[in-house]
Amino acid sequence: MKQKMNTKIFDPNNRDHIKEAGEILKNGGLVAIPTETVYGLAADALNPEAVRNIYKVKGRPSDNPLIVHISEFDEMIPLVKEIPESARKLAAAFWPGPLTMILPKTDMIPDATSGGLDTVAIRFPANETARKIIAASGCPIAAPSANLSGKPSPTEFKYVYDDLYGKVEGIVDGGNCNVGVESTVITLAEKYPRVLRPGGVTVEELREVLGRVDVDDAVVHKLKDKEKAASPGMKYKHYSPKAEITIADVSLEDYIDLVNSSEDAGALCFEGEEKEIRGSFVTYGKEYDGESQAQRLFAALNELDEKGMKTVYARCPKKRGVGLAVYNRLIRSAGFKVLHPETEIIGLTGMTGAGKSVAANEFRRHGAAVIDCDLITREVYDDDCLRELQEAFGSDIVDGEGILNRRELARRAFASPEGKAKLESITFPRINAGIRSRIEEYKKTGTKVIVLDAPTLFEAGADRLCSKILVVTAPETIRLDRIVRRDGISVKDAQLRMKAQRSESELTACADFVIDNSGDTDISEAVETVLNSLK
Ligand code: TXA
Ligand code: MG
Repeated sequence: MKQKMNTKIFDPNNRDHIKEAGEILKNGGLVAIPTETVYGLAADALNPEAVRNIYKVKGRPSDNPLIVHISEFDEMIPLVKEIPESARKLAAAFWPGPLTMILPKTDMIPDATSGGLDTVAIRFPANETARKIIAASGCPIAAPSANLSGKPSPTEFKYVYDDLYGKVEGIVDGGNCNVGVESTVITLAEKYPRVLRPGGVTVEELREVLGRVDVDDAVVHKLKDKEKAASPGMKYKHYSPKAEITIADVSLEDYIDLVNSSEDAGALCFEGEEKEIRGSFVTYGKEYDGESQAQRLFAALNELDEKGMKTVYARCPKKRGVGLAVYNRLIRSAGFKVLHPETEIIGLTGMTGAGKSVAANEFRRHGAAVIDCDLITREVYDDDCLRELQEAFGSDIVDGEGILNRRELARRAFASPEGKAKLESITFPRINAGIRSRIEEYKKTGTKVIVLDAPTLFEAGADRLCSKILVVTAPETIRLDRIVRRDGISVKDAQLRMKAQRSESELTACADFVIDNSGDTDISEAVETVLNSLK
């Protein structure tokens, strides 16, 4: 057996430790360092011998190139043939940060580092400890994630320690990584910029800076056997815990049923959902918060194994924003196994005046069933409901004929947060029951796509019935104008009504799809795109 190495544990707050870590790197040794994304296993990128040791320690295939880390923008100048305008723009917007750019390399970069390619990946990390160590080493630093090849990338010190103690000269204990998934990798070496690996800098953000940005097919699809991967790392088995994971791209309600009805399946779910799970579970972040999911994902994958879970159903992240990076990693850890619902239920929402009904009509035209949740809201006031409302808000809100005085009910209920909560606790469960029974009816007739036209989708908790969420947006001025005309109210009242709602950014954060209804987009085309993506 190979002799174990004496691994030093370094404290990032100790200047001598930073210096010593830098010295080790300069002399061709290996040190695991924290970055804002995941821990990296660092070596001098210009020293082929040191780089070969990285591959050896990780058990990594040698055709999988490494990212070269720098601590100042100018350090990239000698490493690449030229710095295009696009690279300067991206650097100004996102560096230092979780973005890696691929550019044609100079001869300074050895084949061992570039995996024999004529390009090199450059990253300028935001993590201060990482930058100090790179600066102390005086060389550009090659650093893949600090895990053994095939395992989840380490985002906490303990996982680096488990994988690398005794195998490297040093490990820096930098606590937990705050982004949690590896950097976004974008190639600038081809005609159009293309994302090879999504990460903390989102595709949407990149497009804001560069305009056209493509996304490589391998990001969310499995490569066919002979297909060549643009990013060699994409073809290898990755992030795989021992547990057998299946992503369930279904509604929360169906997910809970699925997990609870399978004998020994565990759950990889979002925070709070574990209350409804009967068996074992691990949580990874909040439902509509890609950042928190990214932060937790890799540790959560490790925890599945620590708990000895064998069969696991995972909740599906949104494939937008940072969610795309989460999905990209999760689908690999699941060996591309994804469960889709037989009937897709799309929750359609948006701020008042955005024009949900325009989108709803387009869905109807394309053969989808549309459930108008406002209509259901009006149907819930049966005798039983009226009695409960009278108990809560006074018997005189219903007149002698049994007619509900809606205006008075609203006045009393909305006078206080408690009143509003009380009203909702009486009406929302009934509304959702109404929606559920409509869904069941449509399912019986074999409907494949059902749209819930629901202004208060989230408030009513009806989002848990949906497998997808679509938010219709329009600029505030347009919305205001539409409400004033449609409802014949004053600008001031319209503004008040808009203020009482969830903001557009709060809504789009929850969306699988966003349709812009400012007049610039062809809504019919947008709806077709949504429907095609469900196939
Ligand atoms: O956040 C990160 O990027 C972390 C931290 C430590 O900085 N590093 C990291 O490195 O994730 P690694 O080696 O685990 O992933 C590098 C990815 C691989 O998928 C590799 O194939 C790709 O970048 N890559 C590197 N150089 C490339 C090149 N010249 N062309 C295409 N893909 C490249
Ligand atoms: Mg890796």
